[in-house]
Amino acid sequence: MQLSYIALGAFVVTAALMQGQPGGDPQFDRGRALFDKPFALAEGLGAPAMNADSCRACHQDPVIGGAGSLELNVSLFGNDNGGNGPFTNLPGGPAVSKMFPPSVHGREEYPVGINGADVFEQRQTPSVLGNGLIGQIPSVVITANEDVNDANNDGIFGVARRLAIAGNIEIGRFGWKAQVPLIADFVNDAMFNELGLTTPDNGRGFAGLTDADNVSDPEITQEQVDDIRHFIAMLPPPQRGGSAAPEVAEGQTTFQTIGCALCHTPSLASPLGPVPLFSNLLLHNVMPPDFRGIAEPGAPSGFYRTPPLWGIKDTAPYMHDGRAEDLRGAILAHSGEAEAVRIAYGDLGPTEQNSLILFLEDL
Ligand code: HEC
Ligand code: HEC
Repeated sequence: MQLSYIALGAFVVTAALMQGQPGGDPQFDRGRALFDKPFALAEGLGAPAMNADSCRACHQDPVIGGAGSLELNVSLFGNDNGGNGPFTNLPGGPAVSKMFPPSVHGREEYPVGINGADVFEQRQTPSVLGNGLIGQIPSVVITANEDVNDANNDGIFGVARRLAIAGNIEIGRFGWKAQVPLIADFVNDAMFNELGLTTPDNGRGFAGLTDADNVSDPEITQEQVDDIRHFIAMLPPPQRGGSAAPEVAEGQTTFQTIGCALCHTPSLASPLGPVPLFSNLLLHNVMPPDFRGIAEPGAPSGFYRTPPLWGIKDTAPYMHDGRAEDLRGAILAHSGEAEAVRIAYGDLGPTEQNSLILFLEDL
């Protein structure tokens, strides 16, 4: 019953988004070309200090807008006083985030000494497919699932990311720590922090307004920002595999019964219909107790947004830093609030464990 409900929701919203496909939508085509475009130094590209020359350079797997390999991880640096806290940003804040693949330093190895950093965190390049639908989910739908004090006593909390933007509080929904409310904000942020390109000031604080090159600012027009935002918003969401194998249905039942769905909510409501993303878009701490990472106001070290699981078979490796090579590894990497759920997974027989993986691969 629930399966067909989700499938119908996916159909309705996909049909709505299909109107934005190549050919019939010049703004989509313009945005796609900009996402794909290698920018030049003469246009203000921040090379060699910045991370890449195009958006597609990182978001490419399995299609344009998709995820990126470990080599395309970005790293953030900070100082947590040897693990004793408090966490402080380095001078320059997030602008010091750099492409820093694990082949240069191990995933676990802290590059002590970089500008006084004693903690660093790898961030994998996520897929942006489906972000248009995620943007349609009303904030009240997200906050309705919060359980800040664990009132139901199941060991699982869940808190929305609240961000002060231009004097108002908004709910963050994009990025590993849900640090960004709107797709347009991420376009501004990535233009500056990944490509070194300045964008116009819209008063929301995500645009880089000036840089050190001789190209006059802003280097990207508001129309170009809008075109890329439209392209991302109109990309079709990942499609269900739709397997009729009984193992997949069994895996779905297991997903519910052992508690995965407590955080990976099968669908959230939107004006376009249910969005089958398998996330509540809330922050949870599923890291082991000795984990040290980047802290932000409203998102302490170890807290990450429950990642959507649609299209998950195409985006290995997994978790914010790519620490898990496959889906089984991702489940076993859950600790903290998900400790009991991970133990319940370990207590399943091999057939049930396998069915759960087959279900995840069908999403
Ligand atoms: C160097 C690799 C790299 C480049 C280049 C890059 N990104 Fe990203 N992108 C990332 C990483 C890493 C994240 C996750 C960041 C985080 O949450 O800390 C991300 C996240 C995003 C997200 C949010 C995805 C989600 O659902 O959470 C959007 C949207 C996005 N990027 C758009 C862009 C656009 C637009 C460009 C070009 C202007 C771009 N990116 C260029 C690596 C890259
Ligand atoms: C307490 C909430 C919670 C529960 C319960 C939970 N997860 Fe997660 N899950 C998360 C969070 C938060 C992350 C992201 C952690 C990170 O990025 O390091 C995550 C990450 C994942 C990932 C990797 C996603 C990616 O894009 O890299 C998969 C796969 C996954 N979970 C599947 C499951 C399955 C299957 C179960 C049940 C066995 C489960 N989760 C239970 C919160 C939860």
